[in-house]
Amino acid sequence: MKLQSKLIALITLYILVFVTITTVYFTRSQKSIAVKNLEDRAMAFLKIMSVSSSTQVFWSNFDKLNQYTQKIKENLAVKYVMITDKNGVIVAHSDRWRIGQKVIFPEDFDVLKSEGILKKYIHSVESTFTASYPIKVIDQIVGYVVLQYSLDSIEAEFRGISQRGFGLAALLGIIGVLIALSTAFRITRPINQVMEGMERIRKDEYDVKINVASGAKEFRTLAQAFNNMGSKLKFTIRKLDQERVRSEAIVNSITDGLMIIDKDQKIGFFNKGAEYILGFSQDEALGKKRSDIFKNAEYLDASLPPLLDESGDMFHIRQDGEIQNQKISLSAKDGKNLVILISAAPLIDSNGEVYGKVEVFKDITNLLAMENKLKESDRLASLGVLAAGMAHEINNPIMGIIGLSSSILKQNKSDSVFMEDLTMIKEQGERCGRIIKNLMNMSLNAPKTVAPVDINTLLNGTMRILSKSSPDIKMTFIEDLDPSNPVVSGDEMQIIQVFTNIMRNAISATNAQGMLKVSTKVTGSKLEIAFIDDGEGIAPVNINRVCDPFFTTKKIGEGMGLGLAVSYGIIKNHGGDLKIESELGKGTCFIITFDCITQYESTERYDRRLYAGKGR
Ligand SMILES: Nc1ncnc2c1ncn2[C@@H]1O[C@H](COP(=O)(O)OP(=O)(O)OP(=O)(O)O)[C@@H](O)[C@H]1O
Ligand SMILES: [Mg+2]
Repeated sequence: MKLQSKLIALITLYILVFVTITTVYFTRSQKSIAVKNLEDRAMAFLKIMSVSSSTQVFWSNFDKLNQYTQKIKENLAVKYVMITDKNGVIVAHSDRWRIGQKVIFPEDFDVLKSEGILKKYIHSVESTFTASYPIKVIDQIVGYVVLQYSLDSIEAEFRGISQRGFGLAALLGIIGVLIALSTAFRITRPINQVMEGMERIRKDEYDVKINVASGAKEFRTLAQAFNNMGSKLKFTIRKLDQERVRSEAIVNSITDGLMIIDKDQKIGFFNKGAEYILGFSQDEALGKKRSDIFKNAEYLDASLPPLLDESGDMFHIRQDGEIQNQKISLSAKDGKNLVILISAAPLIDSNGEVYGKVEVFKDITNLLAMENKLKESDRLASLGVLAAGMAHEINNPIMGIIGLSSSILKQNKSDSVFMEDLTMIKEQGERCGRIIKNLMNMSLNAPKTVAPVDINTLLNGTMRILSKSSPDIKMTFIEDLDPSNPVVSGDEMQIIQVFTNIMRNAISATNAQGMLKVSTKVTGSKLEIAFIDDGEGIAPVNINRVCDPFFTTKKIGEGMGLGLAVSYGIIKNHGGDLKIESELGKGTCFIITFDCITQYESTERYDRRLYAGKGR
């Protein structure tokens, strides 16, 4: 129920109750006064009657008394008047036929038993009033005078008074309701105005103003305070808004990811940096749990205390739960594996309670890859120097062994056992020679001749030679070559060596029975050469080691572990890159990236090389 209706109902009820009670009380009290007057008059009359009729009763002069009673009866309010002897036998009566009858009084009104005391009796059913008084002669009761009054006239009179009273009450009630209406309206109107103002403020309409000119003083003060509050609120909210926009601009301008996590691990803030790193938009991230955004998250630094709570969720929010630069690997929205460096600090309110956590993170995936590459190239460089030194030193004696054994073989053709041993010495020597050549290639494999190399043709040629190199090869070879016939600047022989090494590996990984697909694809100035096989695949622990010199999983004598190390060196020296993706049991994909040159460029550069070569 609205305040206004409540007020009206309450005031109306009070007025009605008050007027009704007042009317009933007034009517009743007036009525009892009137009855009391009547009694007093009756008693006075009875006393006079008793005195004036005592002589007649004493001398039994009843005719005179009868006349009196007749006269008195003429008074409309008197129902009857009678005089009895001391035994209650009627001697005179306004209704003559009752003379001689004996009066039977009600028990509590029996004047005969009450030794002549004045008695009055109100007969409620008939609305009559009966009173009696003894008649005495020299202190001796000789009879009684009894009078009955009708209260009808009084009743009628007070019925009228009461009706008028209730009429008045109804009128007062209506006036009261009107007063209630106006009072309620006057009280509730300002309250309603304030409430409307509050409602508009709730809808962000801070310009709302209440009219301060009218109404009671208290209301004007309230309205003024309300208006001031609205203005202050508007000012504060505008300032807060400006501050928010400023902070958001700052936070969004940083490339690091920034998130605010509440106590339930839900994301309450997600900046542009976080969007960029993780691939989720703000709309997708807000309200989600961090575990929905940090997919497959794992700490990379095992030496750090794992700040896990009982539920296993990362970074249980604690007051002392600050973390600095922890490395975590996770999957971005598109499934890409990322490594992030994250720092987090709890957000603490003025009561010292933790209400959330702010987390800042940066994507260090590329940085780590570069770091790894740098370490690798350092290692390769030192290995290269070592290998080059060793190769150089060993090369000469090996050449001597090969040369001498060849010349002895040419001269002595008779002793077959000796010749067999010598042939073995020569062959093993040549094998050593090849190892040394490979080692030298790896360390000093700068392209010796630089010329335009038609990659599609080289791939096709290498594949055909390899497929026919042994009858055991029962592989399916698939070609998917870019029709633009990409051309790369480099040493053709070295590039063939790379293709041969990678394809040989694929043949041995598939046991010469699987599939090898070779494809080329030009994107802008980049050429991607992919070798995909469905062989045994490479174990994740080995994937970063396959290009290390002498790393092999093959049996002794089957592989030296130099094929990929040499190939990697050649690719790098050609300004290219090598990526390896593999799944154990499913297959492997080697992707070489080279800078592509246009046909025009290729002829130009080729000519210049030739010219430069000639000039040297
Ligand atoms: N396509 C492939 N599928 C599975 N494993 C491969 C593949 N290519 C290379 N590998 C792994 O990488 C290792 C190193 O290869 P790499 O070519 O450098 O040496 P190798 O083949 O063992 O010996 P070689 O010096 O004769 O080439 C291999 O022993 C093999 O375990
Ligand atoms: Mg190999």
